[in-house]
Amino acid sequence: MKPMIYITQRLPEEAIASLRESYEIRMWEDEMEAAPREEIMKHIGEAAALWTMLSVKVDREMFEAAPNLKIVSNLAVGFNNIDLDAAREHGVMVTNTPEVLTETTADLSFALLLATARRLVEAERTVHSGEWKSWTPLGLTGQDVYGATLGIIGMGRIGEAVCRRAVGFSMDVLYHNRTRRNLEGATYAELDELLEKSDFVLMLAPLTDETRGMIGERELGLMKETACLINVGRGGTVDEDALYRALKEGGIWAAGMDVFETEPLPLDNPLLTLPNFTALPHIGSAGEKTRHKMMAMNAEAIDEGLKGNQVKNRVC
Ligand code: GLV
Ligand code: GLV
Repeated sequence: MKPMIYITQRLPEEAIASLRESYEIRMWEDEMEAAPREEIMKHIGEAAALWTMLSVKVDREMFEAAPNLKIVSNLAVGFNNIDLDAAREHGVMVTNTPEVLTETTADLSFALLLATARRLVEAERTVHSGEWKSWTPLGLTGQDVYGATLGIIGMGRIGEAVCRRAVGFSMDVLYHNRTRRNLEGATYAELDELLEKSDFVLMLAPLTDETRGMIGERELGLMKETACLINVGRGGTVDEDALYRALKEGGIWAAGMDVFETEPLPLDNPLLTLPNFTALPHIGSAGEKTRHKMMAMNAEAIDEGLKGNQVKNRVC
């Protein structure tokens, strides 16, 4: 009997073809949405590998129901959706997709920063709605990016890649990170100092016990009234109720977010009523080539893991 790999969302055939000969593949056939939890639970008992999306919570109960599970491979660099303590206790390895998505995610970070600063989404809507009547002296004016101060919270590979882009915009870069790094072109700052000095605050931090709610009312209160907050890390690091109030009351100027506490962002979320709020549907790593590389990494990890070989990109 071939070991079974359960895949929680439809992936292109080319991503899984190499696995078909040695393994039984069971895949949730919907490309638009991941398998519901009950569906995963039906199969997890037999699965040797779980190839999962970041939208799927792989918790202790799931590990307990999976006596044959050897590896969980996450189609993402972040892995806050997986209970690593439970994985370790059950002797299951977990892998992610670092590095291949670094530049793509830095591109999106910069795109969202620029879009937020220069109100691109709001401006684009006026073209479609007919609100664009004429050129106006102060219509749709935004914040300059060139020469501004960028504060990056969560300085890893993606942050470094953003720094390289910031050079071209003559930005001063500050960063705050759990551990200080020896970086050229970016200066370490305590969180409060970074918030007070930055024109753009870019969140790239993962979601952990330490970072949950890290940007709340107090922190938003420290930011400049002309500042933009950009989040391309993980939802839950920014308190969305506090953000709504800050945007509504002019505490900060605008926000651009690719990640949210609840994804998809519920349509009744009050943030969506604000003109100075730009939302993207978690597309940080969504470069076509990049997504194929990420899938290839997962497929390789699963194959090596199930063969008992050394596995790259293990997070535990
Ligand atoms: C996407 O958010 C990822 O973690 O890769
Ligand atoms: C992700 O790979 C990061 O280190 O920022």
